[in-house]
Amino acid sequence: MMEMILKTNELCKNFKDQVVVNNVSLNIERNSVYGLLGPNGAGKSTTLKMITGILRPTSGDIEFDGHLWNRNDLAHIGALIEMPPLYDNLTAHENLKVRTVMLGLSDKRVDEVLQIVRLTDTGKKRVGQFSLGMKQRLGIAIALLNNPKLLILDEPTNGLDPMGIEELRKLIRSFPEKGITVILSSHILSEVQQIADRVGIIAGGVLGYESKLQTGENLEQLFMDVVKLHQEV
Ligand SMILES: Nc1ncnc2c1ncn2[C@@H]1O[C@H](COP(=O)(O)OP(=O)(O)O)[C@@H](O)[C@H]1O
Ligand SMILES: [Mg+2]
Repeated sequence: MMEMILKTNELCKNFKDQVVVNNVSLNIERNSVYGLLGPNGAGKSTTLKMITGILRPTSGDIEFDGHLWNRNDLAHIGALIEMPPLYDNLTAHENLKVRTVMLGLSDKRVDEVLQIVRLTDTGKKRVGQFSLGMKQRLGIAIALLNNPKLLILDEPTNGLDPMGIEELRKLIRSFPEKGITVILSSHILSEVQQIADRVGIIAGGVLGYESKLQTGENLEQLFMDVVKLHQEV
């Protein structure tokens, strides 16, 4: 039996009378990369926001590390959802330093996470001058500061050039062996196919498919089928 670090059980979120997340039951295996795939508006960010405590579920529950999720678990969950919260007029080091102070962590951790995301040589350069890829990596560094067991990345490759995507892919693939489970969302099929061990496909708020990725699997057909079945037009 695989060990799950996170499970959602029939998770639902309504905004007014719109059902945005509809009975989503995810199973995230420890020390793996899970790809949450779905078109724009599918409910990916909303689902991830419930896992990170930004939004409260309308119904259903979340299990983390073998118990019912509670806010203390956020100490073990790192997240980069939508744009990274960065100070443009500070350096990478300074951006991280500000957070270590807030989190009560040692300075040493700043250099450690800079090394992990390979941003050690940016020196005095201000973040405003960074490429989008560098900003994303710094956002991931921030999410890693508190040594999370689970790292949640919402569309991390959005807007990156192929080089940036390749760098990020290598970085993400390196996490499971460090004891970090990754949930990554994307609307881009090929990306999920290249990074994830397991994939969930969501459309119209419904998780239409979840399975381990098999080599040579026709994910495109699966994706189309789920979208056709569940996406409202
Ligand atoms: N705070 C909100 N209030 C009302 N509707 C929202 C809110 N956040 C998201 N939605 C709606 O929920 C749906 C799913 O959004 P989202 O989870 O952001 O999708 P995705 O991340 O898959 O693109 C969309 O129709 C979006 O307009
Ligand atoms: Mg989104």
